[in-house]
Amino acid sequence: MPVITNIDDLKRIYQRRTPRMFYDYCESGSWTEQTFRENTSDFDKLYLRQRVAIDMAGRTTKTQMIGQDVSMPVALAPVGLTGMQSADGEIKAARAAEKFGVPFTLSTMSICSIEDVAENTENPFWMQVYTLKDDDFMQRLFDRAKAAKCSAAVITVDLQLLGQRHKDLKNGLSAPPKLTMKSIANMMTKAHWGLGMLGTKRRFFGNIVGHAKGVEDASSLTTWTAESFDQSLDWDRIRQFRKMWDGPLIIKGIMDARDALEALNVGADAIIVSNHGGRQLDGALSSIRALPAILDAVGDKIEVHLDSGIRSGQDVLKAMAMGAKGTYIGRAFVYGLGAMGEAGVTKALEVMHKELDVSMALCGKTDINQVDRDILMIPKGFEGDWQD
Ligand code: GLV
Repeated sequence: MPVITNIDDLKRIYQRRTPRMFYDYCESGSWTEQTFRENTSDFDKLYLRQRVAIDMAGRTTKTQMIGQDVSMPVALAPVGLTGMQSADGEIKAARAAEKFGVPFTLSTMSICSIEDVAENTENPFWMQVYTLKDDDFMQRLFDRAKAAKCSAAVITVDLQLLGQRHKDLKNGLSAPPKLTMKSIANMMTKAHWGLGMLGTKRRFFGNIVGHAKGVEDASSLTTWTAESFDQSLDWDRIRQFRKMWDGPLIIKGIMDARDALEALNVGADAIIVSNHGGRQLDGALSSIRALPAILDAVGDKIEVHLDSGIRSGQDVLKAMAMGAKGTYIGRAFVYGLGAMGEAGVTKALEVMHKELDVSMALCGKTDINQVDRDILMIPKGFEGDWQD
């Protein structure tokens, strides 16, 4: 086994071991992928301020996200089709997260169902919710999450329709994969993955198949989202969802201060500044650049989290220093999962934790809760100086 020292090591193994269709699904942004690229490259524009001769003993990365204790401010983001990256992938990732002391968020578009994950884990996880037209389905989804003791619902508001990712269309992405000459030839080279898949019955969208009515082809993400997602979603509808779920509520996919204020008004407990990992509106700002204006608008009235572009503990540190109260990783944990299953997710979390802890120390801080803009050198104009 090679020595794994960073997230890119996991990504290389993941790419070798996973069918092309699912690697491409993970590693794509929409259209030109400008936003997907800038989500990561904009973190590189923020420099850390080295400080020396400051007592760095007794450090902690422990904090809280929505009042829940976390060993570091890094939750696992909801990622569709995680159980196609590795057999029973959502269960493996949730187990790694709970052992590490960070939240796991289950996607509506997962392969393992809410009940599967609840039965195979000890701690409560968070449930991500897509907004569908079907009211019965929505009510049942919230009820199922409640029965599974989920400790938060994360409503995604930036996917009323699916952003186009070219490779998914070219690959004919589906779960389970459709058997074509191309997909069979590729899967034959992924023996470890294939054996895992043969050994599980969880190969379909577990929250959808048997739960949602009138879906023509529930194996195709494109067909399913086009048929079922509610294009007429508005804040009144989100208010209805707020009534269907009385637990902690997080609204994911906020990129504009006005929308942040709307989320505050519907009674959310937190928002996630997110452009969906660059998978929805290509040409949008990176989330780290969008963060300051949103923080200015909402102040301390709501907890502000950030995802999109986090690939290292240094990115987490920078997001926290900019004022976020928590971050999420999607691709970074999927690389670990596809590379080495549950152990790979643990490895990804360990790598990020070490990067976060050591970088924080070298900036002269011992407590993640005390990290602020003082540790950063932020280029002038980073936030953008836009015309009205
Ligand atoms: C779904 O959430 C996706 O980004 O594919």
